[in-house]
Amino acid sequence: MHLLIPAAGIGRRMGSDRNKLLLSLRSQSLISWTLLAVEASQHISWVGIIAQSSDWSDIKEALAALSLTKPIQLIVGGATRQESVYNGLQALPNEAKQVLIHDGARCLATPELLDYCAEEIRHCSGLIAAVPVKDTIKVVDSTGIIQSTPDRRNLWAAQTPQAFDVEQLKQCHEVARRQGWEVTDDAALFERCGLTVKIVEGEETNLKLTTPVDLAIAEFILQQRLEQNVK
Ligand code: CTP
Ligand code: MG
Repeated sequence: MHLLIPAAGIGRRMGSDRNKLLLSLRSQSLISWTLLAVEASQHISWVGIIAQSSDWSDIKEALAALSLTKPIQLIVGGATRQESVYNGLQALPNEAKQVLIHDGARCLATPELLDYCAEEIRHCSGLIAAVPVKDTIKVVDSTGIIQSTPDRRNLWAAQTPQAFDVEQLKQCHEVARRQGWEVTDDAALFERCGLTVKIVEGEETNLKLTTPVDLAIAEFILQQRLEQNVK
């Protein structure tokens, strides 16, 4: 299975002066934690890391320190996540019929979740990992007034991995470029093209490290995992 890792953001909400994926968490960079999970996955056989060229030397340094066994290709990032994934799709080898996409910022996803998604995509053409939302969600207008309260039982928080049929996803991206659609994940493109996307159960600890408090929570989760392994 081929995997694309969008890693070309700047991490504005993290408030750091560099790409958040290069920040250190328990003495490994975030992107290194993501790659360690990828390395441990059974099904992933090729990895494309999509990153801004200004970050390539730091990423190459992280790769050298990890000495991974899987083939890794660096791909130039775009101005948005959507453009970055588009570039990644163009760089996939021809034999890739299905693709997993996993955000570099979700560095706590387990190898088991990556493998589960890789197995499930054999039976459908689009899926995402997701978890039921815990909060009651409000739809609010621009003046701060609540418009509605969707039934929480129907609400799921989208995560990555997401997995798709490559040809179909490429077509969706082309339609999006023509129509000027801007979306925050690939499932949204599939949906807008009228294609079916299935949910698979994600992981509560599969956070997208976004703000500084997420770094502290991630540190705690990694510490817990370490202690469980030692026991
Ligand atoms: N990403 C990307 N290309 C972009 C923007 C984002 O590949 N032009 C990647 C990020 O590196 C991250 C994932 O998409 O792994 C999810 O994005 P997000 O968490 O929003 O990261 P950033 O865009 O870096 O953060 P922010 O929105 O706070 O600036
Ligand atoms: Mg972003």
